[in-house]
Amino acid sequence: MSTDPRTQWRETVPDDEAARFTRYADDLRALQKGFAKGEPLGRALHLKGHVGCEAVLTVRPDLPEELKVSLFATQGPQRAMVRFSNAMGRRQKDGAPDVRGFALKVYDVPGRKLIEGLEHCTTQDFLFITTPTFSIGSPDDFVTFLKAEAKGQALLLPRLFMAFGVGRTLGLLKRLLGTPQPRSLATVPYYTAAPVRFGPFAAKLQLVPVRPVEPAEKPIGVDGYRDELIARLQQGDVVFSLRAQLYVDDTRTPIEDASVLWTDEASPPIELATLTLPRVDLATPEGRELCARVEAMSFDPWHAVEEFRPLGAVMRARKYAYGASVIARGASPEP
Ligand code: HEM
Repeated sequence: MSTDPRTQWRETVPDDEAARFTRYADDLRALQKGFAKGEPLGRALHLKGHVGCEAVLTVRPDLPEELKVSLFATQGPQRAMVRFSNAMGRRQKDGAPDVRGFALKVYDVPGRKLIEGLEHCTTQDFLFITTPTFSIGSPDDFVTFLKAEAKGQALLLPRLFMAFGVGRTLGLLKRLLGTPQPRSLATVPYYTAAPVRFGPFAAKLQLVPVRPVEPAEKPIGVDGYRDELIARLQQGDVVFSLRAQLYVDDTRTPIEDASVLWTDEASPPIELATLTLPRVDLATPEGRELCARVEAMSFDPWHAVEEFRPLGAVMRARKYAYGASVIARGASPEP
């Protein structure tokens, strides 16, 4: 047995969890139906996609041997697909405060996948958001917040006070509204925020933009982020560095509490690969068709090989929620 402390991570699963998480998936499906207002269902969360496009993942040639796990043992370019999104389950102007999402699907990854019925698929997903932690805390608080928010802005504050108490509500809103809104979705880092297995290790992953050039102005209008991404990709490649922070111990890098920041001091990020979104014109009919194809796809952290199994309470809650949303909206099958 390994004595490396980085392999000594453990999950702690409460007995009542499966019943609670099944209920949360039902709650989210009800919100999904409500937001659709009789139209075809979209995603329960991250409804608004900005663009979807091809990407190429290239593992660092000198990656340390111990990190050559699954697709990170592959040399040379690996095909991938990405989708940029806003986090809310309803369509909003891009100027509205929100977390942003980045979904990545890597192709041709061998190995049995975790979701029943998709075991033999050859894709592997990783999902990222613009905050390094899942700042709302537990899955319980997250679903409570979403249900309160879905009833509309009027009287939202009293509803949150009732659910969380005054002090916690103010802390929560400060974290949510205090996140600066990016000028471009190509110039900000993205984080898995919650951990995944990384072979014998556990890790949080991050995507950091390489030599980002900020736009002169904040994108304005309803779909400013989409327009900015399209213009940027018409000009040239967009490049991210994919990095991992490894678990070191339960205090500094807890597995179960995704609201705790794994600091760079506790676990310095290690570069794994480069993710390049090659120059493309998404304003052409072919480009629009590509975006539409990605929009219809599903991205799910549990669509993974065992080597990258999602870890901790927030991740386990997602096991129930994504499948329910994906089936309800009739996403396209795995490529
Ligand atoms: C670390 C925490 C989380 C991250 C990084 C994250 C990230 C994302 C991203 C990037 C998407 C968009 C996927 C796409 O483009 O297709 C998404 C969708 C979604 N998320 Fe999360 N999420 C988190 C937590 C949660 C939790 C706790 C729940 C529910 C309990 C949840 C439920 C969903 C659902 C239902 C969808 C829509 C799935 C679909 O229909 O394709 N997420 N999430």
